[in-house]
Amino acid sequence: MPSTIELRIKRQDQPGAPSRWEEFSLPYRKDMNVITCLMEIQRNPVTRQGKPTAPVAWDCSCLEEVCGACTMLVNGKVRQSCTALVDQLAQPIVLAPMTKFPVVRDLCVDRQRMFDSLIRVRAWIPIDGTYALGPGPRLSSTEQQAAYPYSQCMTCGCCMEACPQYNDRSEFLGAAPIGQVRLFNGHPTGRMNAEERLRALMGPGGIGECGKAQNCEAVCPKNIPLNDAIAQVGRQVTIRMLKDLFG
Ligand code: SF4
Ligand code: SF4
Ligand code: FES
Repeated sequence: MPSTIELRIKRQDQPGAPSRWEEFSLPYRKDMNVITCLMEIQRNPVTRQGKPTAPVAWDCSCLEEVCGACTMLVNGKVRQSCTALVDQLAQPIVLAPMTKFPVVRDLCVDRQRMFDSLIRVRAWIPIDGTYALGPGPRLSSTEQQAAYPYSQCMTCGCCMEACPQYNDRSEFLGAAPIGQVRLFNGHPTGRMNAEERLRALMGPGGIGECGKAQNCEAVCPKNIPLNDAIAQVGRQVTIRMLKDLFG
């Protein structure tokens, strides 16, 4: 067992500020993850060289790979830091913020663009008031099984980070919102607003900008079948466009 845990962390004091790297060395303990290392640094923010520094900022919430808030680059791979186990990582453990979202501070990024994309595609089922609506439509177990993986999306941003088409030069909304269109357009109640969702995927930033490189599915921590979603929703969008064109 190593006697220390060595970390190299990309630091940035505020949005738009220059970044720098700092090194930290912690006493080794078994079964630590990246978040527990960051908590140790927070308790004693001193670099490996013995220089006092500001505590490292990061986001987290659930600590069990459900909320997506702790997503960052760990040894160059985009993933959730709460489930990144030190004992399974090469050292020094290199931590950096995701590159496709603006840095707020250190490892915290502003993922608002992703949430705006969910609003654009109306990734929800509208309800008419708050009175009891009675039982919902029945779904076969086959439909439920096909829909379930998409319901696990935690808007973590891994698929955007890996996508060559998702960057600050394009408006492309990325794979996760397309997965949500697949989810809600496949639901008998959600289907009532399918046209709005499909029209939201036409034009600039829409599904036509997907380069089909399939990086998104490869990095999704929830194994969401994003390639299937892109193919199925792409067909729905094409049919909608033809219907619009020929009335
Ligand atoms: S589709 Fe997967 S990678 Fe993309 S935001 Fe959802 S959970 Fe994360
Ligand atoms: S298939 Fe490629 S271009 Fe399309 S969303 Fe996935 S990673 Fe991006
Ligand atoms: S803290 Fe929620 S996924 Fe890591």
